[in-house]
Amino acid sequence: MSDTYRGGGGSAAAITQEADALAYAVARMPATYAATAAVFAEVQARSPDFKPASLLDAGCGPGGGGWAALAAWPSLAKVSAVDESATFLDLAASLWASGPKALAAATRHRGDLRRADLPRADLVLASYALAEIPPADLAAVAARLWEACDGLLALVEPGTPAGFQRLAKVRTSLIAAGGRILAPCPHEGACPLAEDPTPGFPGWCHFSIRLPRRRDHRLAKAADAPFEDEPFAYLLAARPGLVGAAAQARVLARPQVAKPGVTLRLCTPAGLELHTVPRRDKAGYAVARRLGWGDNLDRPRLPASSRDR
Ligand SMILES: C[S@@+](CC[C@H](N)C(=O)[O-])C[C@H]1O[C@@H](n2cnc3c(N)ncnc32)[C@H](O)[C@@H]1O
Repeated sequence: MSDTYRGGGGSAAAITQEADALAYAVARMPATYAATAAVFAEVQARSPDFKPASLLDAGCGPGGGGWAALAAWPSLAKVSAVDESATFLDLAASLWASGPKALAAATRHRGDLRRADLPRADLVLASYALAEIPPADLAAVAARLWEACDGLLALVEPGTPAGFQRLAKVRTSLIAAGGRILAPCPHEGACPLAEDPTPGFPGWCHFSIRLPRRRDHRLAKAADAPFEDEPFAYLLAARPGLVGAAAQARVLARPQVAKPGVTLRLCTPAGLELHTVPRRDKAGYAVARRLGWGDNLDRPRLPASSRDR
């Protein structure tokens, strides 16, 4: 299964029987779940009043997105899932059967996201699914997901340059369609990473989540480490009523701690910045030391200090 995915094949090639879907659930679902849960945590931080009553999990696979959504919003009452894979839909159903009522009673539709009727929902999720849509159909699928969305559209992709590029393309069309970007971007202007010259930092917007590996997970991957780091990219587009105070800046890479101080790579409404907080600025340094990759930054709380760019 991993060989097929790594070779560029999608789920249609990788998942042909129940054992393949189970292999995905053991080897990949912990990481895609963790990335999706991290994105939902960001929604809760940015938009605490958002309490979706319904979820559409588009390209649900074995259903990790539903579990992550119910963990974030236990009040979710209605769950729908669309996927072209009957094998994945069956596995999602059998896993969801032991879950909260909304998951156990979820409606599942086998269909192609390019054509199928998509049930409307307050929260529409596509996690690691756009990667499998042919590039020529990407904008149309994103538009269909946006049409089905009454509140928030959450897109989660692998944290690769290609995953970022897909989201960058979709971001432009969602903004043009009236979507407001809740995260990760602190602005709705052109993405400055599209032409990123900062040496020593990756040129694509992505984040990383560390997750525990349980025994089966370790065995399936023949891995010793009791954890793994999943790189992911994401985009949250909301209907206008849902967006509160604009984000100020986003920490785009792991902060670099060196003798002179902490260097933060930030995406701000004015573009990319490298911001160094010197050790001698004790209060500012204490704030900067607590910041992590992916954190959202309140500019007024950011100490004034040397700005390299
Ligand atoms: C890599 S899996 C991701 C599954 C799950 N969302 C997750 O995060 O673990 C991609 C999923 O998208 C589905 N998919 C790919 N192309 C699709 C299409 N055109 N229409 C419907 N589902 C599609 C696949 O069947 C598969 O379940």
